[in-house]
Amino acid sequence: MRLPRVKFLKTALIVAALVGLYQLAVAKHGERDALRRAAVDLTPNCRTKLHDYSLQSGVRYRSPYLEKTTGKAIERRGYSEEDVRAIQRGCNIVDDLQGQQAKSGAQERWNSKRFSRSTHASCNHCHQNAGDKQDAAGNRLVGSNGLAASWVMADMYDRFTGLLLPYELRQMQCYINSSNGFKPNAADDLLRDVTAYSRFLTAALDLKMGNRYPEQGMDEIPVSATPRRGDDYIRGAHVYREKCARCHGPQAHGTVAQGRVLYPALAGKESFSLDSRMNFARVNTVMPGFICRNMPLGEEGSLENQDCRDIAYYLSTLPRPAGDRQGPLVALWQQVMMTVMPPLTRYAESFGASEAAAPRGAEIAARP
Ligand code: HEC
Ligand code: HEC
Repeated sequence: MRLPRVKFLKTALIVAALVGLYQLAVAKHGERDALRRAAVDLTPNCRTKLHDYSLQSGVRYRSPYLEKTTGKAIERRGYSEEDVRAIQRGCNIVDDLQGQQAKSGAQERWNSKRFSRSTHASCNHCHQNAGDKQDAAGNRLVGSNGLAASWVMADMYDRFTGLLLPYELRQMQCYINSSNGFKPNAADDLLRDVTAYSRFLTAALDLKMGNRYPEQGMDEIPVSATPRRGDDYIRGAHVYREKCARCHGPQAHGTVAQGRVLYPALAGKESFSLDSRMNFARVNTVMPGFICRNMPLGEEGSLENQDCRDIAYYLSTLPRPAGDRQGPLVALWQQVMMTVMPPLTRYAESFGASEAAAPRGAEIAARP
């Protein structure tokens, strides 16, 4: 008599669990669908950019950028309302990955925080101006890591992985290593929306599929572009303190105020990983290129190539999270270093602060 009842209870429990899971999936699916249909609350940067590019739903699309820069007026097929919302969400994600400017936080960014261990990382820190950097006259800038120019190189050889990668998989690399996070699924709305946004940029800028434009990727600085004094830690640390520390902090841990990242971390727990394309140790020409073209913010282009290489070398020696190619031992070591080094460095530097006016680094930096 007893046995069938136990069996029945067991089966009922399993069925109840499955029904529960199913209902959870339905609820989550409904949530995502509601987000897809909801009006998008744009970040200030995205509002300006997309307004300047006349993004709206309609039968025809006409790019004001093209008229302004070339005098040509080209009409293309327009966008549906769903398209427009995807493009808007994509811009928001690039501009504010952490959801710090969103009313309901990262939820509005498809819970993007799931894919980023860093609480600082946002795509536009390195793909500036929401992935579409221009000068005042609207010229796109060489090596500014533009997302439109990247999208038209849909399947591109990627020297970091040694593979021919589509746009989505190149985005993934930045979630894994530049945000020190995890790999989103290729079909995730997070990637789809950034792709929709990048594709819209190519229409607004009239870029052609398969062409390689100068703003694609980084404008790199190899050793051959310097006087070949060799990259120097001491010089780098000195110039960093002079030109960068006021924003990025004395140990490059960044500056956060009222829950918003003002200046991102360049080292430490909140920074990009050892395997990020931005990390000097991975490809030693990329970070110096970024620094020389884009930093110090407001005084871009004021540094010598050698300065940028020295600073990048210095930054690469500071502890940061392990990347996706390192094993658990390296990861553990990096964790230990990230915990132990900052207080030790602070302690060591507290001696230097009381030294005489002229810092030792100055003469070293001035040496020919
Ligand atoms: C810490 C800096 C940093 C952050 C943050 C970052 N990226 Fe990148 N990204 C890079 C660098 C550096 C490259 C390589 C540029 C090169 O190859 O010259 C790159 C490359 C890419 C590429 C491929 C570009 C190409 O033309 O091959 C895509 C796509 C991309 N990033 C998307 C993103 C997205 C989306 C995010 C936000 C989730 C993001 N990145 C965040 C630094 C960053
Ligand atoms: C006036 C403040 C300021 C100064 C000075 C400054 N930065 Fe930045 N830096 C920023 C901001 C803000 C960003 C984020 C990108 C943006 O908003 O354009 C950034 C981004 C970066 C990034 C890429 C973002 C990331 O997540 O890693 C690097 C690398 C960087 N800075 C290096 C430097 C170096 C090296 C110097 C000194 C030569 C420097 N910065 C000086 C404000 C500054």
